[in-house]
Amino acid sequence: MQYGHFDDASREYVITRPDTPASWINYLGSRLYGGIITQNAGGYSFHESGGTGRILRMRFNGVPVDQPGRYLYLRDDESADYWSASWQPVGKPLSADGGDDGRYACTVRHGLGYSVFTSRYAGITADFTCFVPEGQAFEYWALRVTNTGTAPRRLSTFSYAELANDWHYRQDLENLQYSQYVVQATVRDGMIHRFNRTRTDLRSLFFGLAGAPVVSYDTDRLAFLGAYRTPSAPLAVERGRCSDTEVTGDNACASLHTTLELEPGASRDLVMMLGIGRPDAEWEGFPAGRKLLAEFGTPERVAVELERLRSGWAGRLGALQVHTPDPELNSMINVWHAYQTHMTFNWSRGVSLVEAGDRDGLGYRDTVQDMLSVAHSIPGAVRDRLDLVLTGQTAEGGGLPLVRPLTHRPGHEAAPPLESYRSDDTLWLPLTVATFVHETGDPEYLATVLPYADRGSDTVLDHLLAALRFSLAHRGGTGLMQGLAADWNDCINLGVSGESVFSTFLFHAAALRTAELARLVGREADAAWCEEQAAAIGATVNEVAWDGDWYVRGISADGVRLGSAAADEGRIYLESNVWAVISGAAPADRAAACLESVHTHLATEHGLALCEPPHTHPVPGLGLSLLVFPPGHKENGGIFCHSNSWAIVAQALVGDGDRAYDYYRSYLPARYNAQAEVHQSEPYVYSQFTHGPASPRFGESRNPWLTGTASWTYVAVTQYLIGVTPVGDGLRIDPCIPTSWDGFEVHRLFRGHWLDITVRNPGHVTRGVVALTVDGGPVPGAVVPATLLTGPDGTRHAVTVTLG
Ligand code: GLC
Repeated sequence: MQYGHFDDASREYVITRPDTPASWINYLGSRLYGGIITQNAGGYSFHESGGTGRILRMRFNGVPVDQPGRYLYLRDDESADYWSASWQPVGKPLSADGGDDGRYACTVRHGLGYSVFTSRYAGITADFTCFVPEGQAFEYWALRVTNTGTAPRRLSTFSYAELANDWHYRQDLENLQYSQYVVQATVRDGMIHRFNRTRTDLRSLFFGLAGAPVVSYDTDRLAFLGAYRTPSAPLAVERGRCSDTEVTGDNACASLHTTLELEPGASRDLVMMLGIGRPDAEWEGFPAGRKLLAEFGTPERVAVELERLRSGWAGRLGALQVHTPDPELNSMINVWHAYQTHMTFNWSRGVSLVEAGDRDGLGYRDTVQDMLSVAHSIPGAVRDRLDLVLTGQTAEGGGLPLVRPLTHRPGHEAAPPLESYRSDDTLWLPLTVATFVHETGDPEYLATVLPYADRGSDTVLDHLLAALRFSLAHRGGTGLMQGLAADWNDCINLGVSGESVFSTFLFHAAALRTAELARLVGREADAAWCEEQAAAIGATVNEVAWDGDWYVRGISADGVRLGSAAADEGRIYLESNVWAVISGAAPADRAAACLESVHTHLATEHGLALCEPPHTHPVPGLGLSLLVFPPGHKENGGIFCHSNSWAIVAQALVGDGDRAYDYYRSYLPARYNAQAEVHQSEPYVYSQFTHGPASPRFGESRNPWLTGTASWTYVAVTQYLIGVTPVGDGLRIDPCIPTSWDGFEVHRLFRGHWLDITVRNPGHVTRGVVALTVDGGPVPGAVVPATLLTGPDGTRHAVTVTLG
C-alpha cells in the first residue's frame, strides 16, 4: 500500500493519504523553539527542552497516538457542517480520488522544517502551513482559505491548541493536584496570554491572529470542547462560537475564532502565531507578541520566512549531494536521510512520539556517534558539541552516562562509580575527533585545552589518550575490556567481572585512530604507544574470542561465552563480528569467515538480526536486560538498524560492494514506499529497529527518527559505498559499489572548496581506483590532495575517478 511519494526537487515527502499505518512525523524549529508535527497535525512544541520547556501538551501513548496537536477547524456557517484543515481531528470520511467525489481529501507536504496541509472539502480548499521561522521563538500557523465553488460562502475558522499547564512535561501530565491549579490566561484585544508562576518560572506564551478580527475566543479547554467531547467534535465549533473564557485553573487552550465571507474564487489569508513571550511587553529578550504579530503576521512575511528556512536547509544539505543509479538512495541521501542526521544531532533521544522528553540530557555514546554524519555540513555546531562531550569525560577517562547541556558544569560533575560507566562511551571519541579534524583540516583542535567533567583539564588529544587508558585499566580475566554497565548494546550488562568483545574491538579501532591523530601533530611517542596497545589487544582478542567460524560477543562474569556456537541461544551476534573487521583486528581469513557466518545466520529480507536465536532464558553471569524483550524485539534478536550499518561498512572494507549494497537495501526505508503496511513507519526515515524473524511482527519497524542508525548508515553509504572520506591530507575517493553500477556523481564541499566528482565504472568492478584526475591533471592513488584545492573559498574543482 502506498501513502505518498518523494518530491526531491522540492525536498518534500508528499503524503497523499493521511490514514498512514502509523503517525508519520516531521520536525519543526531549532533548539530554541522546537517541535514535531504529524501528518494529521498532531504533535507538540517546547522552548529549549522537550522535558522542561513544554508549550503544547502531548498525551504520550494516547489513542489516537498523535493527539492533541495544532488544529484548525473550518465551519460552513450556513449548513453548520465543519471539518479540519488536517484530516484529524474531525476525521471526515476520506475521498478515494483526491476530493473529486465530494468527500474530504488532504495532501500533506512534509518539508525540511515545515509541513503544509492542503485539504479539499465542500468546495473549500484550505492550505495550512506550519513552521518555526529561523532564529525565532514562535511558530506560524498560516491558513489560506479558498472558495473553489460557484456560490458565495460564509465560513468560521477556529484554532485549537492544548497548552501545557506547567513547563515541566511530567509535572504537567502527572502532578495534577498541582499543575491544574497553576495556569491562567487572559485575552486582550484578541491576543491570548497564557502564564503561570510555577516556582521561579515566569515564562509565558502568546497566541495571536492576524488577517481578520477575533470574533470569539476560548482559553478554557472544557469550555471549548464541551464535557465528554473530544477534539473531533468541539462544542464551540459545533455551535459556531466560543464562550470568551479566560481560564484560571484546570486546563488551558488557545482558540481564536473568526469569520470569513468568500466570493467564488476568492481566497483569504489568516496568520496565527504561538510563541514565547508576553503580548504587550518585552520579557527577557523576547519581543512583545503584539509587536511580533505586527511585523511577522502577513502572508508575504510568511512566504519570505518559509523561503529563508528552505534555502537554509538547501545550503546545509548541499554540502553533499549524490547522483547514483539508485533513485531511492538519492532521495534518502540528498534529502531525508541527511535531514534525519540533523534532527538526531539536534534532539538526541529526547523528542519524538516515543521519546517523551525525559531524556533531556545527551547520552554519551549516542551523541558522539551522532556527530559523525554532520561534520561536513555544520562543522561549527559539531565543534561546540564536541567540546561539550569532551568536558563530559571524567579525569579517569570514562564518560558521564548523560551530559546535560542546560546545566552541565565541567569541573564540578561527580564521576560515576565504575559499575555505572559504559565501556564504550569515550572510545567513540577518537573516531569523531578524527572525522572533525580531517573534515576541517584543523589539527590545531587537538591542542585545545578542555576541562574534564570532575577535575583537571587536558588537550583534546590527551582526552583521547585518557579514554584509551581508562579502557586498558579496566580489563577482565582474559585481558579483554570489562563490559561495565553496557557496551553499546544496552542490554548486554557484563559488569566489572565480565568482558566485552565489542568494546575490545572498539578499543582497537580507537587506538589506531588516536595514533593517526597523534602523528598528525608530531606526537610520535604517543602514536607508537597507541599502536603497541592496539597490537597487543588485537593479539589477545584473536586468541580469546575466536569461536571457530565467528567471534563471540563477550564473556560473562561466570565465564560463559556469549555468542558461541556451543550455546543454545544467542549463538552468534552481529556487533562483535562486524567490529572485528571494522577495527582492523581480524586477519583476512577470519574477517571473511565471520562475515560469511553473519550472512548465513543473521541476514533476513528486512535486514540483519542482532543475534540468533534470541534469548528465552538467562545466560549465567549476565544481567537480565536481554530478556526484557520478547524474542525478535529490539536487542533480543531484532533487526537493530544501527548495527546493520556496520555490516555495510565491514562488507565494503573487505571489498564486496554487492553484498554491502544488498544489506543497505534490505533496511532502506524508501524501498518500502509502496509497501508501507509492512514497514509501517515513515518511508523517509530510519527506525531504531525492525521486528526480527522470531517476532510475530517481523518486518514492522519501530522507533523512527532519533537513532544511531541515521548517523552510521549515512557514514556507511557516503564514506564506504560511495567511498568519499576526508583524511589527513585530502579527500579519499575509494568507492565500493555494486558491480551493476556504471558510475555516479558526487558534489561535495570540502575545506571550503566544491568538488564535482564523477566516478566511472566501465569494467563493472566493485572496487579499485585505477585513475584519478583533479582539474584535468592526473593524480596518483585515491586521495584528492588538499594542496591541489587552490583558489578562494567556493572554487569548484572537477574530479574524475575511474574504477577498474
Ligand atoms: C539505543 C540507545 C543506544 C544503544 C542502542 C543499543 O539506541 O540509544 O545508546 O547503543 O540502543 O542498545
